[in-house]
Amino acid sequence: MNFFSKDKKSAFEAKETAQWIAFGPVIFQVARVLKSKGILKLIEESGSAGMTIEEIAEEVKLSVYGVRVLLESGLGIGLVLLNDKKYTLGKTGYFILHDPLTKVNMDFVHDVNYDGLFHLEESIETGKPVGLKAFGNWKTIYEGLSQLPDQVQKSWFNFDHYFSDDAFPLILDLIYDHKVKKVLDIGGNTGKWAIASAKHAPDIHITIIDLPGQLNVARKRIDDLFLNERVSFLPLNILDEKAELPKGFDVIWMSQFLDCFSEAEIISVLKRCYEALDENGQVIILEPFWDRQRFEIAAFCLQQTSIYFTTLANGNSQMYSSEVFIKCIDQAGFEVVEQTDQIGLSQTLLKCKKRK
Ligand SMILES: C[S@@+](CC[C@H](N)C(=O)[O-])C[C@H]1O[C@@H](n2cnc3c(N)ncnc32)[C@H](O)[C@@H]1O
Repeated sequence: MNFFSKDKKSAFEAKETAQWIAFGPVIFQVARVLKSKGILKLIEESGSAGMTIEEIAEEVKLSVYGVRVLLESGLGIGLVLLNDKKYTLGKTGYFILHDPLTKVNMDFVHDVNYDGLFHLEESIETGKPVGLKAFGNWKTIYEGLSQLPDQVQKSWFNFDHYFSDDAFPLILDLIYDHKVKKVLDIGGNTGKWAIASAKHAPDIHITIIDLPGQLNVARKRIDDLFLNERVSFLPLNILDEKAELPKGFDVIWMSQFLDCFSEAEIISVLKRCYEALDENGQVIILEPFWDRQRFEIAAFCLQQTSIYFTTLANGNSQMYSSEVFIKCIDQAGFEVVEQTDQIGLSQTLLKCKKRK
C-alpha cells in the first residue's frame, strides 16, 4: 500500500498543515503540560458541565494567567472546547490523556529526543548522533543506555517494548516448530524474547547477545524467574567486525535489532550470521517497515522515529522500508523464504535461508 503517491490536501489544507508544523514544538509542549499538570484530567472529570479557568486554576494551584495561556492554546489544538466560559474535553484531549500509544510516543519524544533534536541538522551533515551529547559522550546511545537518567531510560524501554511486546505472543508458534530448539537472540535487550521462548516450551535454549550493560539487566530478570538454565549470555559488540558469532544454532533471531545499524553494518552482521549457520539454519527477523503498514498513521510514526536514530541513537540507521532492508538480506547471501506482515501493532516477520 503506497500512502504517499498523491497529494490529498487542498492548497488551503496544506497551508494549514504548514502552520501545525511551524508551531509543532509549541503544540507538543502545551499538550504535555496540560496533561502533566492534571488540567486535562480535571476537565474530563467535570464532564459536560465543564469548568472555568478560575475554577481550574484554583484546583491545580497555578495562576489564572498560566492556565489561560495553556487552555487557549489547547483550544486551537482541539484538546479542549469552550462554551459559556466553561472548558470541556475534546476528542483529541481524550486520546492525549488515555491512549497508551500516544503516551509511549510522547514520553519518548520528550524525555529521550526533545533536547537532542535541536542538533538534527548537524547530525545529518556529519552522520553522527550529535544530539546524544545531551546525555553523554558515547558513540551510540546503546553504549550509554544503562547509564541514562531513570526517566529517560524508562521512556526508552517503554517505547522499545511497546512495539515488540504485543507481537511476541503472536509469533511464538510460527518460530518454534518441532525442529527449532537452539536460538541465538542478537540484541536480546532485557530478555523479553528469551523469557517468552523459555516459557513457551521446556526444551528451548536461548543465548542472548547484547552489550554488557543490557545483559546485566537481562541476567537479573532471568535469574529472578529461575530460568537461568535455559538462557545463556554472551556480551559482544556486534560492530566489532572481528567478532565472530557462535555456531550450532537452529535459528538466529533478531527483533528490532538491525534497524540500529546502517545498511553496510546490517550486511556485515548478516554475513557473520551466514558464517555461523549451517545449511538448514535460518535467520528470523522481526522489524517494523514503514512501507508495510495497514494505516498511514503507522507509517508516519515509523518515519518520524527514524529521526531519533539520526540525532540520538547512532547517526546512520533508521526505521527502514522493506525494500531497502531486503536488499541488505540479499547482499549478505540470504533469501527471504517467508514474509508475514501486519503482526501486532506494526511488525513484519522475515524468515531467511541461505541462498542456494
Ligand atoms: C531496539 S533494542 C531491541 C530489543 C529487543 N530485541 C526487542 O525486540 O525489543 C536493540 C538492542 O540492540 C542492542 N545493541 C545495539 N547496538 C549493539 C551492538 N553494537 N552490539 C550488541 N548489541 C547492540 C541494544 O543494546 C538493544 O538491547
